[in-house]
Amino acid sequence: MPPSRRVRALIDGLSWAEKLGQLQIVFRPSLHEAKQLVRGGIGSVFWPRSSAAVNALQRVAVEETRLGIPVLVGLDVVHGHRTTAPIPLAQAATFDRDLVRELARLAAAEARSAGVTWTFSPMIDVSRDPRWGRVAEGFGEDVYITAEMGRAMVRGYHGEELAASDAIAATAKHFVAYGQPEGGRDYNTADASEHRLRNVHLEPFRAAVETGAAAVMASFNTVDGRPMHANRRLLTDVLKSEWGFDGIVVGDADGVRNLIPHRVAADLADAVRLAYGAGLDVEMGGAPSDLNPSELAPDRLDPARLDDAVGRVLALKEALGLFDDPYVPEADERTEPTHEARRLVRTAAARSAVLLKNDGTLPLRRPRRVLVTGPYAESADHLGAWTQSFAAPAGSIADELGERMPQAELRVAPGVRFLDDDASGIPLVVAAAREADIVLVFAGEPSSLTGEAASRSDLRLPGRQEELIRAIAGTGTPFVVVLETGRPLVVADWIDRAPAVIVAWHGGTEAAAAIVDILLGDAEPSGRLPMSFPRSSAQVPIHYAHELTGRPATVGGTLDETSVDIGLHGPDNVHEKYTSKYLDLELGPQFAFGHGSGYATFVHGAPRISADTVRLETLEAGAHVVVEVEVTNTSSRPGDEVVQAYLEDVVASVAPPVRRLVAFERRTVEPGATVTVSFELGTAELGFWSTDSAPARFVVEPGLFRIHIGSRLERTQAVELVVR
Ligand code: GLC
Repeated sequence: MPPSRRVRALIDGLSWAEKLGQLQIVFRPSLHEAKQLVRGGIGSVFWPRSSAAVNALQRVAVEETRLGIPVLVGLDVVHGHRTTAPIPLAQAATFDRDLVRELARLAAAEARSAGVTWTFSPMIDVSRDPRWGRVAEGFGEDVYITAEMGRAMVRGYHGEELAASDAIAATAKHFVAYGQPEGGRDYNTADASEHRLRNVHLEPFRAAVETGAAAVMASFNTVDGRPMHANRRLLTDVLKSEWGFDGIVVGDADGVRNLIPHRVAADLADAVRLAYGAGLDVEMGGAPSDLNPSELAPDRLDPARLDDAVGRVLALKEALGLFDDPYVPEADERTEPTHEARRLVRTAAARSAVLLKNDGTLPLRRPRRVLVTGPYAESADHLGAWTQSFAAPAGSIADELGERMPQAELRVAPGVRFLDDDASGIPLVVAAAREADIVLVFAGEPSSLTGEAASRSDLRLPGRQEELIRAIAGTGTPFVVVLETGRPLVVADWIDRAPAVIVAWHGGTEAAAAIVDILLGDAEPSGRLPMSFPRSSAQVPIHYAHELTGRPATVGGTLDETSVDIGLHGPDNVHEKYTSKYLDLELGPQFAFGHGSGYATFVHGAPRISADTVRLETLEAGAHVVVEVEVTNTSSRPGDEVVQAYLEDVVASVAPPVRRLVAFERRTVEPGATVTVSFELGTAELGFWSTDSAPARFVVEPGLFRIHIGSRLERTQAVELVVR
């Protein structure tokens, strides 16, 4: 979109040095230093921790610089500002787009009231490798869910218009393929074929751009051997030229400086020139300001490229209304969660919780003697990765249980800590367990083991938690395990002995209340796994939408609760030598993508399709087929069912995934009631990116498709569709 008259005039009026200032965002801890930066012409800063400080910086920008251009104020508002929502991986587990958008709306309102105008979120890196700590910040292994939740967050942050007092500019990050680092090690090489780039990693970003994301952040990794901060083909040819992205491409923190250790830049000047030339618009870290201006003179940097970048930055400032009113009403700053905010994040935390297994022990039936144990029993560490120091604190589960179970005789004995090797507390817990009617074990990984630069090689519970669980199992007292985590964990060494297990993720400010809501049956644990739980750390990367291979190992029999991988179900050949398997590990994940259930029970009718044959031309003209299914709540309590539709392309020009999610809908169903869930399927669902030619083309190929509808992968019924 051409720049407005105001932006055009500013571009023409800015000096070369002032233009370079607009193309950086810099962090400075002190307000005094930040003022100096702004006085010197820096166009964007990190949030200085209050609306008053933001106004002070804006006054410097407006009154003390030559052209008075206000600054953008950036911050990682990833899953909340003052009120912390469940981590994004947990939000994906809700399979609830509307809820994810509502949570982003809340975050935007709180952040904008504090003067934040630009967030570095949503993180939409698809990942199938839970060793990578940043899976906590994304939406898991599935392309469709990641794209849908990314859209929902962008819509939530942006609201009706960016100039509104409750809107912040969204940044889709980290572009691209950052979620596939070799070895699961953060920042590592993430090489991907064009086929996988197009059909997995790029797709959520294309959706975010289509939804109007204001910015895209370049990632730290290389693709095709090129660091993304200097990858012209993807930053410019694909993102800007092919997709028409007219927002800002912002670097990740020091990502431009990192081009030197990537060894594609000889020095900082080389790195800066490479990055802007590749299509980066705003450098994060201040590298250009650290250089001698002659290094970045107009004869060393393409003036047209820089004017384009400046135009993008000024256009965002204009869209945010900053030229009309750069100040924020300090009296309106929301510094504490409201009652409504707490209720919303509590609902989200309950909806994100996944009931992995339950022999009927849950919901609790008012037991008298309750032992509360595990490192999360008294911890307040429920906020997860990307939580800011100024966020409202969470409470402890032990305190919440004390309030909510006044009739019970509660005993609290954590037994072990998260990380250390000390198991001396376990005997006391065992003795107490023998005297209890039920043991509630609150285990998991602390927030510090999740997020950026937090890759783990061993996905089991850290410290001596597994030993604690096994010791409790040995007492014979019924027990429940609640796992708080930022990633899928390996639970193989104890899961079979646990009567009931819930994954509560890192649920945010109201996590304790939500967990107790679920334990007491006041809320439904109705989340579904957005990432497979591997049987072993050595099994990753692992995901459901895999190719079958030319020599699939398959198991026969019925698909059981813990679900083998759906693509590995068939004639029992797992003992044949030349098939794709491990000699020392069962097939498939411990728990598959989409796994989970609630306390309510549902029955699905036979799915129906509006036509079993459709002409390709008709689809390409915009027609859809409709698949629908009746869902009945056969229990005595209301419940949420998540109906999922998986596509099977039976034969294609490239090896298709055994299944891929193309639609989902969460529905609340009253006891005894029946609802009809229907999905429209057209080219967007049936097609894929063919990379036989450049650029890639989105195609639907004639042939047989099966649409598998159900409550989870191993519980579906199929209808067939022929495209001819
Ligand atoms: C970090 C993260 C990125 C974040 C940025 C600014 O290194 O990679 O997600 O937005 O720095 O905090």
